[in-house]
Amino acid sequence: MSNCLIIAGLQWGDEGKGKVTDLLAGRADIVARYQGGANAGHTVVVNGRQVILHQVPSGILSPKATCVIGPDVVLDPETLLAEIESLLASGVMTDTSRLVISRAAHVVLPYHKALDGLREKAAGKNRIGTTGRGIGPTYEDMVARRGVRFADFCDPERLARRLDMALPERNAIISHLGGDPFSRDDLVDRSRDLGNVLCRHIGDSGAVLAKALDAGQNVLFESAQGTLLDVLHGTYPFVTSSTTTAAAAFPLSGIGSPQSHTTLGVVKAYTTRVGSGPFPTEDEGEFGTRLQDQGAEFGATTGRPRRCGALDFPTLRYAVRVNGVDRIALTKLDVLSGLDSVRICVAYRLGDETLDVIHPDHFFDPGLTPVYEEMPGWKDALTGIQEHSRLPEKARLYVDRIERELGVPIPIISTGFERDHTIVLEDLWN
Ligand code: GDP
Ligand code: IMO
Ligand code: MG
Repeated sequence: MSNCLIIAGLQWGDEGKGKVTDLLAGRADIVARYQGGANAGHTVVVNGRQVILHQVPSGILSPKATCVIGPDVVLDPETLLAEIESLLASGVMTDTSRLVISRAAHVVLPYHKALDGLREKAAGKNRIGTTGRGIGPTYEDMVARRGVRFADFCDPERLARRLDMALPERNAIISHLGGDPFSRDDLVDRSRDLGNVLCRHIGDSGAVLAKALDAGQNVLFESAQGTLLDVLHGTYPFVTSSTTTAAAAFPLSGIGSPQSHTTLGVVKAYTTRVGSGPFPTEDEGEFGTRLQDQGAEFGATTGRPRRCGALDFPTLRYAVRVNGVDRIALTKLDVLSGLDSVRICVAYRLGDETLDVIHPDHFFDPGLTPVYEEMPGWKDALTGIQEHSRLPEKARLYVDRIERELGVPIPIISTGFERDHTIVLEDLWN
C-alpha cells in the first residue's frame, strides 16, 4: 500500500504492537520509535525465544532494519545499556551499528525516577499507577526547558551546566517529598561510563528518516502505549505524559508528512488496562478472570496484573478517528476460544442519550452505562492458525463484526504470540 507504515495502539497499551511491528519489520529498512520511553514493554517471540523491548525498537529482531530512537522518546541510559547488553549476549543483535539515537531525545536521569516514585507515594489512593520509570518528570522537564538532551548527556561539560540549572530545584522537591537529593558530580561521573557505549549512536534521526523516505525505502513507525493513554486524547489525568497517536509520528520525528502512508491500528480482541483510571467495560467477574488467565495478562514492564474486560466499539470508533486509522491488526483472537459467548460493548447510555462514539472524558460521568451484546463463542483452539479459511465460523463472524462496526479492514489477525502465528490477508508494504 505504501512505503511508510505507522503502528499505533487503539486501546490502553499492550495491544500487541511489538508482535505486529516485528512481523512487518522483516521488510522494513528502518523501524523508528517516536515517543514514550521505558514505560513501554513490547514483546516479540520468534522460534520460542521471547524478547521484551523497552527502549530499542521492535525491528531489532529483523536482520537488516536500522532502528531509530526519535527525539520525543525519553531515553533511560541505564535501561538502554542493559537492553543492548542482553540483546548482544543472547545473539539477537550481533553488533550495535544499526541503532541511531536522536541527539535531541530527552534523557531520564535517576532523579526523574525518584520523583516519579515519591509523587506516586504522596498521591496515595489518587496515584496514577505509573510504571515508575521517570516518564512524567522527564517530559515535564522537557516542556519546562530544564531537561537534559542526549547531546548534553554525551558531553560532560554541557551536562554539568544543564544539571547546575535544573538540579537544585528538583532536589528541593525531592527533599520536600522525603527523598534524598542527588549530587551533580555523581550524575556526571555515571554518564561517562554509560556514554562510552551509548554515545557512539548519536545522530540526526530526522535526517536519517527523511533520506530513507525520499529514496523510497520502507519505513515503519512504532508507537508506544495506546490512544487512551495519550496525554491529550486519553483518560486524562490517568494517562502517560506523551502523545501516543499515529498522526504525531511525523512532527515528533522531525519530518514532514510523506505523500502517502498507511496507519495500522492494533486492537486486542478484548480490552485490558494496567494502572489506575476509568475502564467502563472492565469485568471483575468470570469473563474478566478468564481473559486474564487465558491471555496471561501481566504487564511486560512492571509484572502487574492487567485489568480485563469487553471489547468497546464506541471507544474504538473514537480511537479510529483520532489516529486516522486505515487498517487494523487484531491480536489475541485465540484467547477467546472456549467461551460460550463473547461480550461486546456496542454503545453507551448517558441520561437519555445513546452514544455510538464516545469521548473518554465521559468515562468520568456518573450514570454512564455500557450497552452489551453477547456474540456466540467458539470452542476450537485457534493458536497458530495462518489461513483465514481455518478459522471457525463464529470466530470469523466476530472479526467481521469488528470490521463492520469500525468501518476499517482487518488484514492482520494474530492467533498466538509467535511471529508466524498470524493470518495475513494483504501486503501492507508498497
Ligand atoms: P505491546 O506493548 O503492545 O507490544 O504488547 P505487550 O507485549 O505488552 O503485550 C502483548 C502480549 O500478548 C505479549 O505477551 C505478546 O507475546 C502476547 N501476544 C501478542 N499477540 C498475541 C496473540 O495473538 N495471541 C496470544 N495468545 N498472545 C499474543
Ligand atoms: P506499551 O507500549 C500499558 C500506563 C501505566 C499508567 C500510565 C502512566 O507496552 O503498550 P507512565 O509510567 O507512563 O507515567 O504511566 O500509563 N502505561 C502503560 N500501560 N502499556 C504501556 O506501554 C504503558 N505505558 C504506560 O500503567 O497507568
Ligand atoms: Mg506492553
